[in-house]
Amino acid sequence: MANQEQPSASEQTLDRDCTTLSRHVLQQFKTFSPEAQDLSAIMNRIALAGKLVARRLSRAGLMAGTLGFTGEVNVQGESVKKMDVYANEVFISVFKQSGLICRLASEEMDKPYYIPENCPIGRYTLLYDPIDGSSNVDINLNVGSIFAIRQQKGEDLDGAATDLLQENGREQVAAGYILYGPSTMLVYSLGNGVHSFILDPSLGEFILSQENIQIPDRGPIYSTNEGNFWQWEESIRDYTRYVHRHEGYTARYSGALVGDMHRILMQGGVFLYPGTVKKPEGKLRLLYETAPLAYLVEQAGGSASTGTEDILDVIPDKLHARTPLIIGSKEEVKLVKSFIDDRARRDSQSAVMASQS
Ligand code: AHG
Ligand code: MN
Ligand code: MN
Repeated sequence: MANQEQPSASEQTLDRDCTTLSRHVLQQFKTFSPEAQDLSAIMNRIALAGKLVARRLSRAGLMAGTLGFTGEVNVQGESVKKMDVYANEVFISVFKQSGLICRLASEEMDKPYYIPENCPIGRYTLLYDPIDGSSNVDINLNVGSIFAIRQQKGEDLDGAATDLLQENGREQVAAGYILYGPSTMLVYSLGNGVHSFILDPSLGEFILSQENIQIPDRGPIYSTNEGNFWQWEESIRDYTRYVHRHEGYTARYSGALVGDMHRILMQGGVFLYPGTVKKPEGKLRLLYETAPLAYLVEQAGGSASTGTEDILDVIPDKLHARTPLIIGSKEEVKLVKSFIDDRARRDSQSAVMASQS
């Protein structure tokens, strides 16, 4: 018979196998409060969205109407893929009749989307990038989904979700990503560490794989699209020259932020998507790309910056606002920032000298 104080090896294995995502959320709260129940139910539905997307991706090359472009261009001016549309709809669908999420905002929708039946009681907003790295879909490489949950502030009577434009990323209640790789992984934080789960297809459940993930303070990887080298500011070029000259750095870039970030979270390093001279705000969007990842990385002991301020301090001026992104191991982010500060100092010195001459 099982000993009450010392669980047997088989009890331990069973307990681990039963640590599903929804149970883990409740464990994090250490209560069965309404908030804990809501967050557990929300995460469970995000997990369902992940399973639906993973299922479609795994058979995409065999099913009609799954690969390629729709012919539409989204609010970002980017060509929309069929998988973007499907995944966007999946996240809406899983929250219908849930009483949990009143509003959703995503990369693929110009304006926030409301689920009216949930609004009287569902005070949460879901921000998401349904498919991140969609250029990888047609060639069967890794892609991801990114999500963040926020509490709705005020009534939002005009349907403009202006409360989202008044708060920074520290107001996120939870954030995470799903990585569709050789296995499907879900990584999330509720503000109490970062935890990862692997989808066990035989159970159809995300099972805990690692708790309290800590990003190394330093790491060998730098991940950036060096094709943009001559469009970058001089400071980012300075940093790139530095890593070229110093042994120990290695480049990795997959074209899908979630995959590149996952590697850095596990092994240390830095991901950069800086602004360019023509587009100083960069490419990545704050509310559903850079802020959720910044929240996760800070929870894992790393940092995330625009180059001049912490990503989590940025307040967006519009729903689809963009920010430059420098994210990863604390010391590596600090190193990139030292090049930015250095150039800023030199530029202001030359401005002073020019004004004096
Ligand atoms: P999305 O597919 O959601 O538009 O995101 C693509 C992003 C990101 O995943 C990736 O790191 C970056 O864009 C790649 O951009 P470049 O092709 O400019 O390097
Ligand atoms: Mn993206
Ligand atoms: Mn996307």
